[in-house]
Amino acid sequence: MKKFFGIIGDPINHSLSPLLHNYWFKKYKIDASYSILEAKEKDIADVVSKIKNKTLTGINVTLPYKQKIINYTDKIVNDAKTSGSVNTLFLDNSDNVIGENTDVFGLQAAYLKEIDKRTNKKALIIGAGGVSPSVIVSLQKSGVKHISIINRTKEKCLFLQKKFEIINVLSWDDLEYKIGKHDIIINATSLGLKNGTDFNFDFNDFKNDAVYIDIIYNPLKTKTYKFLEEKGIKVFNGLDMFIYQGQKSFYLWNKINPEIDDELINLLLSRLKW
Ligand code: ATR
Repeated sequence: MKKFFGIIGDPINHSLSPLLHNYWFKKYKIDASYSILEAKEKDIADVVSKIKNKTLTGINVTLPYKQKIINYTDKIVNDAKTSGSVNTLFLDNSDNVIGENTDVFGLQAAYLKEIDKRTNKKALIIGAGGVSPSVIVSLQKSGVKHISIINRTKEKCLFLQKKFEIINVLSWDDLEYKIGKHDIIINATSLGLKNGTDFNFDFNDFKNDAVYIDIIYNPLKTKTYKFLEEKGIKVFNGLDMFIYQGQKSFYLWNKINPEIDDELINLLLSRLKW
């Protein structure tokens, strides 16, 4: 019987998840399709009920619903529990709607393994929005002990600090100066997004051996990414994280660990502008 999957979020029209999952369904000859589910907040209960009654096999959840969705699940597990953020839903053998988080794995798989001697490194997370809890958990799981966070709205950092006591909260006014004091800098804000605002300074004080991770993948290279790349800094964008989070979701739903092959990468790149 054909299986149906989808994604909810707002805005959602530009999501690449249908492209990713439908590519893998075709590759592994699975009779399934993945589509964008137009759902506002009032529709979340209805979407989740479709998992319960097996009309849908699973869904992904993106901003701004990653926290809100928890109230509609029967149980959250593993990284979803630790982070308080859910991006994948499925039904377990007892017909419970389970909420899991694959963003943490996505981030770890994409970049963190490439950073040496992590335990001694100082990480700075810029932004305290929807993706930041997953960033914190991925750093913690990767052994990074010194984690600071900075956000235009400081209250959001203080709120996160209640859950993640180890994080150190910095003031937005100090951002430019603090950048040079850290080894792993992660942009978890929307600054740099296509057609959006950007940082209003250049990251001149960046340490030569520091690493910059941008959660953004559209554009593939933000202004800051390009600036640091030209300076010879090790830089990553969010595309690998996106692919790896999808890979884990696909595994949870289909029990197949799908391959990330060149055809898939090229397909995704063809949809993104440099
Ligand atoms: P939400 O804030 O609803 O969780 P998000 O997309 O998950 O939305 O997060 C957006 C992030 O980008 C936030 O950290 C936000 O900072 P605020 O919490 O102060 O809003 C940050 N951000 C967005 N626009 C920004 C700007 N012009 N300057 C600085 N930070 C910005």
